[in-house]
Amino acid sequence: MPDIDRIVEQMTLEEKAALCTGASAWTTTPVERLGVPELLVSDGPHGVRRVPDIHAVAAQSLPATCFPTASLLASTWDAELLQAMGEALATEAVALGANVLLGPGVNMKRTPLCGRNFEYFSEDPYHAGELASALVEGIQSKGVGTSLKHFAANNQESERFSIDAVVDERTLREIYLPAFERVVKRAKPWTVMCAYNKLNGTYCSEHYTLLTEILREEWGYEGLVVSDWGAVHDRVAALQGGLDLEMPGPKPHRTAAVVEAVRAGTLDEAVLDKAVRHILQIVFRGAETRAGGTFDAAAHHVLARKVAAEGMVLLKNDGILPLRSVDHIAVIGRSAKAPHYQGGGSSHINPTQVDSPFESLMALAGDAEVTYSEGYPADDSFQQSLIDGAAAAAQVADVALLYIALPSYKESEGYDRADIDLTAQQIALIRAVSAVQPRCVVILNNGSAVAMSEWIDGVAAVLEAWMMGQAGGGAIADVLFGAVNPSGKLAESFPLKLADTPAHINFPGDDGQVRYGEGLFIGYRYYDARQMPVLFPFGYGLSYTTFAYSNATVSAATFRDVDGVTVSVDVTNTGSVAGKEVVQLYVHDRKSKLVRPFKELKGFAKVDLEPGETKRVDIALDFRAFAYYHPGYAQWITEDGDFDLLIGASSADIRATVSATLQTTLDLPSRLDKESTVQDWMDDPRGRAVFEPTFQLMMAQMAQAFGGGDGNDDGAIGMDMTGFIMQMPLASILGFQEALLPMPADVIVEGLLHQVHGA
Ligand code: BGC
Repeated sequence: MPDIDRIVEQMTLEEKAALCTGASAWTTTPVERLGVPELLVSDGPHGVRRVPDIHAVAAQSLPATCFPTASLLASTWDAELLQAMGEALATEAVALGANVLLGPGVNMKRTPLCGRNFEYFSEDPYHAGELASALVEGIQSKGVGTSLKHFAANNQESERFSIDAVVDERTLREIYLPAFERVVKRAKPWTVMCAYNKLNGTYCSEHYTLLTEILREEWGYEGLVVSDWGAVHDRVAALQGGLDLEMPGPKPHRTAAVVEAVRAGTLDEAVLDKAVRHILQIVFRGAETRAGGTFDAAAHHVLARKVAAEGMVLLKNDGILPLRSVDHIAVIGRSAKAPHYQGGGSSHINPTQVDSPFESLMALAGDAEVTYSEGYPADDSFQQSLIDGAAAAAQVADVALLYIALPSYKESEGYDRADIDLTAQQIALIRAVSAVQPRCVVILNNGSAVAMSEWIDGVAAVLEAWMMGQAGGGAIADVLFGAVNPSGKLAESFPLKLADTPAHINFPGDDGQVRYGEGLFIGYRYYDARQMPVLFPFGYGLSYTTFAYSNATVSAATFRDVDGVTVSVDVTNTGSVAGKEVVQLYVHDRKSKLVRPFKELKGFAKVDLEPGETKRVDIALDFRAFAYYHPGYAQWITEDGDFDLLIGASSADIRATVSATLQTTLDLPSRLDKESTVQDWMDDPRGRAVFEPTFQLMMAQMAQAFGGGDGNDDGAIGMDMTGFIMQMPLASILGFQEALLPMPADVIVEGLLHQVHGA
C-alpha cells in the first residue's frame, strides 16, 4: 500500500475533486501521473454483473454464475455456506476484472410489497446481519470488496429516489440499522452504499448523522462511502455529510462545484482530503488483487445448486413428498421450462447455464411418464384453455407438479407490488388442477411472501423455491425426490392477507413521505404483539424428518450483561432420514421501562443430524441480546430483571424455555425532571431514596383530605386515589395541597431534583 497521505499532498485540487466522482458507470477516476489506478465495481450481489462497456449502465453483462437471491440465502440460515458462496463470487469477480461487488443489501423487509425484497435478507435485523456478514467475509477473504447497501431505510421502491422515510430514533436503531451495524463492525465491508431516499427529511447521500456520526464515529467504519447510482443531488453537501464517492460519472459540473466551493471557502479542503483518502485506500486495496484468470463454472453451478436446495422452504406436506413410486407425473406451469430464477433490475446476472426444472425432474424421475402443460401465459392475459388442458393432464396422472412463478411485472427492482397475490390465472389454475387431482404439489418462485388462502387447502404440498438462481431447477428436483432433505426456514412471515401486514396503513406514504408508524413492530414482532395468526410464521419450514429438543439449560441463573450467558439444548433426529434443523433462540424481557417486542431473535444454529443422532447446541448471548436502545439516554441499555430465553423450531413453535436474571453494569443518570410523575419518582432508585419520606407524608395527608388512598376505598370522589396520585407529576399533586406545605411545591421539587442530580 503506497503512502496515501503523500499522494494526497501531491494531488491538485482539481484531481482531488475529480477522484470523488466516477469516471464512468463502473470505474473511479485514475490519476496516472501519481500512479493511482482506477477501481472497477460491478453489480451483484448474487452473481457478478460485469458490464463490458464501462459507460453502459444497463447493458448485457459477461456470463457469470447466477446464485440464488438473498431471500433464499436468508432461508438457509447457514452462515458457512454463504461464506463459501462469497468465496466463489470473489473468484468470479477477479476473473471478470471487478474489484468490488455491489452488495449485499441488508434493508429490512418492512412489507412484503417492496418490489426489491428478493434482494434483501430478512424481516429481522439480527438474522440479516449474521448472514450478510458471512457473505461479505467470504467475498472479501479473496481480495474483492463489497458494498453494503442501501444505507439506510430504503424499504420501498415507490418514489425511491426521493421518498422521505420518517422513522423514530429507537426504531431506526433497533430495526433499520443493526444489520448494517453488525456487518460493518464484524466483516468490515470495503464500501457502504448510501440509499436514494431521504431519512427524516435529509437525503441519505447528505446525511451527516447517518454517514459520519453513526457510521464512522460510533461504529468505527474506515472504508469508503459510495452513493447509490444517481443518489447525489448536491456534491458539496454530500461531501460535508460524509459521502466520499459519487457514482456514476463522469460529471464535470460536480467536480467544478467542489473546486469552486473550496476556493470560495464554503467547503473545507480537509473534508475533501478525508474523502480522497478513503477512496485511495480502497483503490489501492483493490489493486493488490491481481485480476484475471478463470473460474470453474461447472463447480460453481454445483455450488449454486447446493445453496438453492438448502434455502428452499417446504411449507406444506401432507406426506406426498418426497415423491416415491410415481408412474405418471403431470408437470404444469410455464416456469417448469422457462424458469424464473432471479429478479429484474441492477442485480440481473447473465448466467453461465440454466437448469431447466423440467429436464432436471426428468433426470430423477426414472421410468415415470412425464407430461408438460403450460398452464399460464407469459403475459397478464387470462387463458382458460391453458387451465383446461392442464387439468385434463393432471386428472390422468398420479401426481401434478405445479411450477408457479410470480411474473416480473408483479415484482422487480424499480416498482413495488400492488398486492401479494399470484396472478388470477395462476390461482384459477391451482384451484382447477387440485379439484381433479388432490395429489398436487405447488412449487413457487417469488422474492417475497405471497398469499395462499384461496388455494392452499386444496393442495397436498407447497415448496417455496424463491428466486433460486441458475441451478434452482435441479435443486427443486433434488428436494422433490428427497435427494436433499429440505432444511430452509422462512426469514419473513407469510401473512394470511395483505391487510394483516404491519405497515399496511403506512405504505407507501403520500406527499413525498412515508411514516414508519408501526415502529419497532415489523414482521413477527407485530404478529406477536397483535396475537394475530399468520399463514406461515418467521423461522418456519418443514423437513422429511422430525426433531426433538431436550435438556435445555442456561449457563448461569444470574449474570452480568457484559458477561452474557450461553443457552444449550440437545437436538435429536427422531425420524428415519438424515436432516438439518435450524434451532432459534428468542429473548423475552419480562419487564422493561420502554415497550419492547414480546420476543426477538438473538441467536440460531443449524445442525446436521443422522437418524437417531443427538447433538448439543450452544448459543451464546451477549450484552446486545438483552439491550434495547433508549432514546432518552441515546444509548443501548440493559435493566436488571428476569429474561425468558425461548428455544424454538420457529418463531411460533417454542420447544423449551429457560430463564435467567440479568444484572446491569450500567450506572445510568437519573432522568427525573419537573414533569416526572409520583410513579417515576418511586421507580427511580436515586429518586426513591430522597423522595420516600415526602411520599409517605403526602399519602397520609391525601388520605385525610380526600379519604381513600389504600388502593381499594374509592373515597370521597369515587376513584382509587393511589392510582390517581401515582400518575400525576409530583409538582402538580403537591401543588394541590400547597397550603399544608412549608414551602411552594415547585421549590420542594427543585430541592429534590437537586439532591438527585447534584449541583
Ligand atoms: C441500485 C443499486 C445498484 C446500482 C448500480 C441502483 O439503481 O439501487 O443497488 O448497485 O444501481 O447499478
